[in-house]
Amino acid sequence: MNQEMDLAAAKTIRRIVKVNHAGEYGAIRIYRAQIWVARRLYPDTVAFLEETLAHEIDHCQLFRDAMPARQARPCRVMALWGNGGFLLGFVTALMGRQGIWICTAAVEGAVHHHLDDQLLFLKNRDPELHTLIATIQDQELGHLNHALERLSTPTGFWSKALHQIITLSTNIVMWLSTWGDSTRMARELKASRQKTNNQKAA
Ligand SMILES: [Fe+2]
Ligand SMILES: [Fe+2]
Repeated sequence: MNQEMDLAAAKTIRRIVKVNHAGEYGAIRIYRAQIWVARRLYPDTVAFLEETLAHEIDHCQLFRDAMPARQARPCRVMALWGNGGFLLGFVTALMGRQGIWICTAAVEGAVHHHLDDQLLFLKNRDPELHTLIATIQDQELGHLNHALERLSTPTGFWSKALHQIITLSTNIVMWLSTWGDSTRMARELKASRQKTNNQKAA
């Protein structure tokens, strides 16, 4: 039974590294496309986008380096992540600065939630990967906050709709790439939060 559980955990860990690597690749493509447009239309946003791109390149390499020890290989649908990312970055950047901030806030927000779920799962199962993801999550949070601070308020109907569509698409691709593990981890995190709250209330 324990061996079965270990095998299942190893499989999930493989999926985590794989999906994170693919996600970082998608992020690289989003920011590259946005930089291409921003250089021509909103040069004031380029410094942030370039710094963020450098982080994503770094994250992508770190997850790639974490693969061999965990018998993980790059995702088979990397092209989907890459092309989807490029298209998303390009279209949102053409919508204006707000398009860039909505896209960044939605993608980085979704990523942040998934990393939270993964951290809980990895805590006692793969401390090395746990530390790596915690460090990366810090930078992702910086990207998220930068975008949130620039989102205009109150949010209009179309901005809200775009935000929700991007969040949903990111979650769907994550779910597909982890074969549903992302939902199981989210459930595990929710249960653990409830347990902590109950303990506090008792
Ligand atoms: Fe990243
Ligand atoms: Fe990021």
